[in-house]
Amino acid sequence: MNYKISYDDFRQKFLDFFVSKNHKLIKNSSLIPENDPTVLFTTAGMQPLVPYLLGEKHPEGRRLTNVQRCVRTVDIGEVGDISHFTFFEMLGNWSLGDYFKEEAIKMSFEFLTQVLKINKKELAVTVWIGNESAPKDVESYNIWKTIGLEDSQICWCEDNWWGPAGITGPCGPCSEMFFNTQGEKCSPTCGPLCKCGRYLEIWNDVFMEYNKNSDGSFSKLAQQNVDTGMGLERTLGILNGFKDNYETELFSAVLAKLAEISGKKYQNNLRAFRKIADHTRTAVFLLGDENGIAPSNIDQGYILRRLIRIAIRNLKQLEVSGHVLAELAEIYIEKYKKYYPILETRKDFILHELNKEEILFNRTIHSGLKELAKVLEKLQSNDTIRGEIAFKLYDTYGFPLEFTEEIASEKGVKVDVAGFNKFFAEHQEKSRRGAEQKFKGGLADHSEITTRLHTATHILHTVLRKNFGQDIKQKGSNITAERMRFDFSFDRKFTPDELKFIEQKVNEVIEQNLEVQMEEMMLEEAQQAGAIGLFTNKYDKEKVKVYSVGKFSKEICGGPHVKNTSEMGHFRILKEEASSAGVRRIKAVLE
Ligand code: SER
Repeated sequence: MNYKISYDDFRQKFLDFFVSKNHKLIKNSSLIPENDPTVLFTTAGMQPLVPYLLGEKHPEGRRLTNVQRCVRTVDIGEVGDISHFTFFEMLGNWSLGDYFKEEAIKMSFEFLTQVLKINKKELAVTVWIGNESAPKDVESYNIWKTIGLEDSQICWCEDNWWGPAGITGPCGPCSEMFFNTQGEKCSPTCGPLCKCGRYLEIWNDVFMEYNKNSDGSFSKLAQQNVDTGMGLERTLGILNGFKDNYETELFSAVLAKLAEISGKKYQNNLRAFRKIADHTRTAVFLLGDENGIAPSNIDQGYILRRLIRIAIRNLKQLEVSGHVLAELAEIYIEKYKKYYPILETRKDFILHELNKEEILFNRTIHSGLKELAKVLEKLQSNDTIRGEIAFKLYDTYGFPLEFTEEIASEKGVKVDVAGFNKFFAEHQEKSRRGAEQKFKGGLADHSEITTRLHTATHILHTVLRKNFGQDIKQKGSNITAERMRFDFSFDRKFTPDELKFIEQKVNEVIEQNLEVQMEEMMLEEAQQAGAIGLFTNKYDKEKVKVYSVGKFSKEICGGPHVKNTSEMGHFRILKEEASSAGVRRIKAVLE
C-alpha cells in the first residue's frame, strides 16, 4: 500500500511547522504521572504542563510543541469501531500566556489547509455556546469566519469545554476541528453534531484561561493559555483516505500477523481484530514506560490487566490458542522504538509480562467461561447478572467487570455494576486494612535501630539510582527491628558481584561520617532542589520534610533519621529477590 503521507512524515511536518512558528520542541512525558494523584494516566499533552499553565515559568519558554503518548480508558467499551483507541499519540502546541485565540486558530487553519493541504470545504468547527461560568465564544466564531469558513461550517456547541484533566486545574472553552470523511453531507443540516458520524474530530484548540477549583467553581487564571491536541491516528487515517483508522500503517503489520496466526480475515472479524490490536498496543506502552507497571489488581496495574485479558478473550474468539501477544508486541516495539527507545530497553520485560499474563489467565479463563455460560443460560435478553456473581467471576477466575459485561452484552444481558462495585469495595477495604497493618509494623516503630535502618534506605536508594539508572524508583519499604526491606523498580536480578558493589558503595557513604539534615520546604521547592521520594500530592500547600545525607542524597520523607552516618554501623545485604514483576526487593541489616 502506498501511503499519501507516512507516519514519520506526518509527525515531522507537525513539529517542523510549530518550530517554524517559534515553538520549542519538548520531551514527551511518561504515561504514568508521578506527581498527579488525581489521574491514573497521562491523557493529554497538557497534563505534564499543568504547573506552567497555572503560571510557573517553563524552562523552554512560552511556546511549546511535542507529540505526547496518551492513554484514555473511559472509551474502552467503544474500542472495536473505526476510530476509538485506548492508546493514541497527540500532536500538540501550547502557548503559556503568549498568543491566544487569534494566532492559535490561524496557525491551526494554516497547518490544515497549507501544510496538509486539506480542502477547507471538508472542514467544520465547533465553538463554545456559553453558560453561567463563561460567556459565548464570539471571538473564536469571528476568527474562523475571517479566515474563510462559512457560517454553515461553524457550529455553536455546549460540549465545547475542555478540562480539567483531573478534578481541579486549568480548563476553558475550546474550538474543535472536524473533517468530513465522506465529502458530502447526509442532509443540508449535517455537520459535526450530526448523528451520521461522517464528521470526525481531528484537532482541538483549548483556550485555557480558567481554573476549576475544588468546590466546583471556576476562577480566571493569571494568564491566557492555549492548549491544542490533534489525534495522530485519526488524522493520519484521513490524510491517507482511510475511513477505518486501523488501516493505517500503524496497525497493518499487526493485523496481518493476526490474520496469519488465526487463519481468519480482518474484514470478517473487525471488532475482535481491532480490540486485540488496540489493547496490545496500549499494554506495550504501559509495560514499556519509564515508570512501567506490571499487571496487578490495583490502580494502573489493574487497568493494564483488564486490557490484556480482553485481548486474550478476543483471541479465543478467533480460536487462537497458545501465546501470541508477545509476538504482536514485538511488531509494535519495532514500529515505535525510533520515537520511544525505552520500548526496546524494556522489551524483555514487556514480552515476559505478556506471556506471564497469558499463561496465568489461560489457567482460569476456561472454567470462568463455563461458569459464566451457565449463568447466561438461565438469563434472557435484558436480564441482569447479579453483582455478587460478577464479583465471583472477578475474584475466582480473574474476569474484569468489562470482560463479563462484554460477553453478557453479546446475549443482550446487563451486569449490575453498582452491585459489583459494592463487593469490590468491600474486598479493597479488606486489603487496605491489611496494608495499613503492615505499614504500622514498619515505619511507625521509631526505635534506634529502625531509625538507623531508615537512613540506610535513603543511601541505598541513591546508590541504586546513581549506579543502575535514574529510572529506578522506590516501590515500597518496610522496616522492622530485625532488618530493612526496600522494593524498587528494576527488571532483572542483580549478580552477586553487583550486590557486593552495592554493599560497598553504601558503606563508603556511611564511612564518610556525613551529617543528616532536615529542611522543611514546599513540595515544589523540594522537587526543584532535586529531592527524590514519593511526590504524592503536587498541589499540597503543606510543607514537606527533606532529609539530606551530606551532599549524597536528598529525599522527601517523614523521618526519623540518624544525625550522622557515623551512628549507623556496617551495611550488609541479606537477600535480593523479585518482589513482583519489574520490582526487586533487597533485605539488609546494619551490624
Ligand atoms: N487537552 C485537549 C484535548 O485533550 C487539547 O489537547 O483535547
